[in-house]
Amino acid sequence: MSRWRTLFHSFKSHLRLVKRYAYDPARLWLQFPDTMFELGATASSNCRFAEGVKVYAHCVLYRTEVGKFTFIAMGTHLRNCRIGAFCSIGPWVRAGLGRHPSRVFVTTHPAFYSLAGQSQAVFVDKPCFDEFLPIEIGNDVWIGAGAMIADGVRIGDGAVVGSGAVVVKDVEPYTIVGGVPAKPIRKRFSEAEIAFLQQTQWWQRDEAWLREHAGLFPDIQRLREALDSSVRPAPLSAASKADDLERPPL
Ligand SMILES: CC(C)(COP(=O)(O)OP(=O)(O)OC[C@H]1O[C@@H](n2cnc3c(N)ncnc32)[C@H](O)[C@@H]1OP(=O)(O)O)[C@@H](O)C(=O)NCCC(=O)NCCS
Repeated sequence: MSRWRTLFHSFKSHLRLVKRYAYDPARLWLQFPDTMFELGATASSNCRFAEGVKVYAHCVLYRTEVGKFTFIAMGTHLRNCRIGAFCSIGPWVRAGLGRHPSRVFVTTHPAFYSLAGQSQAVFVDKPCFDEFLPIEIGNDVWIGAGAMIADGVRIGDGAVVGSGAVVVKDVEPYTIVGGVPAKPIRKRFSEAEIAFLQQTQWWQRDEAWLREHAGLFPDIQRLREALDSSVRPAPLSAASKADDLERPPL
């Protein structure tokens, strides 16, 4: 490779830094006015944000959809992710880093299957390997600091990923996983409680409902009782009971 080409590439990477710290804050403010970005955070134009999202310093988001009131803590990099509402994405999380072939292909080096130019060599005319697969993260998911989520993984509603985990397989709803590779540690609730939460889908409710019921959230039992009694038919009044008695049996 010529010296000029090397110089050109290092100039381009410096330009990227200028773009991120000088130009991006204004672009993000214009393009995603409802989303709060801290300094040094950036998101590509093909990202989508619901209301109330907060992206902390030095996060990098590419082709990612984020549901309402989710926050993404500092230094996290997300690519090709669809994230639900009310998620807590910890600091330094990596999701969607991309794949290299590890079977059949002679080499793992992208020069032989990618046009992206990761190195200074590209030996093919068209791509011949799926480098990125979409990642699905449900609602009310908590991802601990420094976790890594592999391409193509799906994480169910209410799941927890422990700090430092490497998630390479799908995670069931309301399951806590941890370790390398991540394995289930325990369920957050009983089967009946999980069924209740999946049916309730509280994250779909409007803000007024959530504010009104927030006092019940510290104890799932109290929320269940309150919602069960609100759907149970009201007790019959003395007059209607008397009416019932007078009606002939069916
Ligand atoms: C996973 C986590 C949520 C704890 O879950 P928990 O079920 O309450 O965990 P416990 O402390 O009861 O431990 C249960 C078991 O899981 C193990 N464990 C806990 N955290 C773990 C982790 N991050 N990775 C692997 N194993 C973990 C414990 O060693 C214990 O194992 P044992 O039963 O063999 O003794 C917590 O450890 C964690 O990782 N939190 C993330 C913190 C964070 O990153 N915060 C950033 C703010 S957004």
